[in-house]
Amino acid sequence: MKEENEPYRQYVAFIDRQKELTDLGLFIDKQPSEILFVHGPKSSGKTTLLYRFLEQIQKEQKLNVKFLDLREIFTNVYEDFLKTFFRVETKGEKKETLSSNINVGFFKIDSTVEKKILEKRADPFKVMKAELLELTRQGIKPVLIIDELQALDKIYLDNDKERQLIMALFNFFVAMTKQAHLAHIIIASSDGYFLNTVFTDSKLKKCSRFYKVDYLAKKDVMEWLLNLEKYSKIKDYTLAEADAQKIWDTVGGSMWEIQYLLTELFDNPIDDVLSLYKKKIKGMIKYYIGMDMRKEKILEVFLKKETADIKDFAPLGIVTGELEGLLQDMVRNNILYFDPTEAVYYPQGKSYYWGIRLYFGH
Ligand SMILES: Nc1ncnc2c1ncn2[C@@H]1O[C@H](COP(=O)(O)OP(=O)(O)OP(=O)(O)O)[C@@H](O)[C@H]1O
Ligand SMILES: [Mg+2]
Repeated sequence: MKEENEPYRQYVAFIDRQKELTDLGLFIDKQPSEILFVHGPKSSGKTTLLYRFLEQIQKEQKLNVKFLDLREIFTNVYEDFLKTFFRVETKGEKKETLSSNINVGFFKIDSTVEKKILEKRADPFKVMKAELLELTRQGIKPVLIIDELQALDKIYLDNDKERQLIMALFNFFVAMTKQAHLAHIIIASSDGYFLNTVFTDSKLKKCSRFYKVDYLAKKDVMEWLLNLEKYSKIKDYTLAEADAQKIWDTVGGSMWEIQYLLTELFDNPIDDVLSLYKKKIKGMIKYYIGMDMRKEKILEVFLKKETADIKDFAPLGIVTGELEGLLQDMVRNNILYFDPTEAVYYPQGKSYYWGIRLYFGH
């Protein structure tokens, strides 16, 4: 019988990340001077880490944290951005907080300022700066965390197609960090191409730090899998070391896939589950390639190499413009990850290497 306050057979785990949490802590412990870009493959745990970090700093320091998770917010036009970043605080309204002392997700304005912003009589960037200045004056450190910033990619200032909002925001972030040292700015995205535009922009490159959040290391995966009760509150199922090793060999440190496989393992033999899973990834690869032999050629490169840079695809004879388009499509569809700091491409995770091998009959 399951206890009443623990109604599930399996819970979402949270493994390790001590180093990452310490690194983030160190980042906000010094005076702001650069933007921090958190990157890493699909589902490598960036959002989860940032939420953990939020919980941690909430306990430790005198901070004002604004946390904008743009995936959860519908941002399509300029007004959506304004609604996301600014909120009117009315008297008696219950503050939107994760805990009692941290405001999450907006700059506080009064209704007069809101009206002015909407009527374009006030500059939203000046309004943000004024709040950051005021917080700093009070001895409070502002920290602005934005997850999935690329969601604002298609938004234009005052809906004017010539003025991309994201570029204006970047300029503002540079001014707030490198120039005025007013706020910590942490930005996360799983879109390597989006981050690449940042990385190759010389102005931004000089004022940003890139921080990679990767899948779990083997020792952490083994620790998790050999202690399912401790980390996933699974009370009626254990794994032998050889089985844990098999899971590592199949999906590596990809937490989401480990969680998925654990659920399957309750009622099925491990070898069946893992072989079916590899076939499923093969199916995804096959579906993605479809009839496009150029995609096939690109993925074939990973039979011989773990990571590839653009030059490794040159012998395939695909026209340069087309090749770039195809690689971009593969990154956007989460087949490949593009690491902007090293300019290398690689399959999103260990299971994808299996899928590719199976696809080519290896
Ligand atoms: N440290 C961890 N230990 C165990 N599971 C984790 C950990 N971090 C994240 N996960 C799990 O991995 C999955 C993906 O996490 P998350 O959404 O944070 O990744 P992400 O990098 O933000 O993904 P995306 O690339 O889609 O933005 C979730 O199911 C989450 O519960
Ligand atoms: Mg995320």
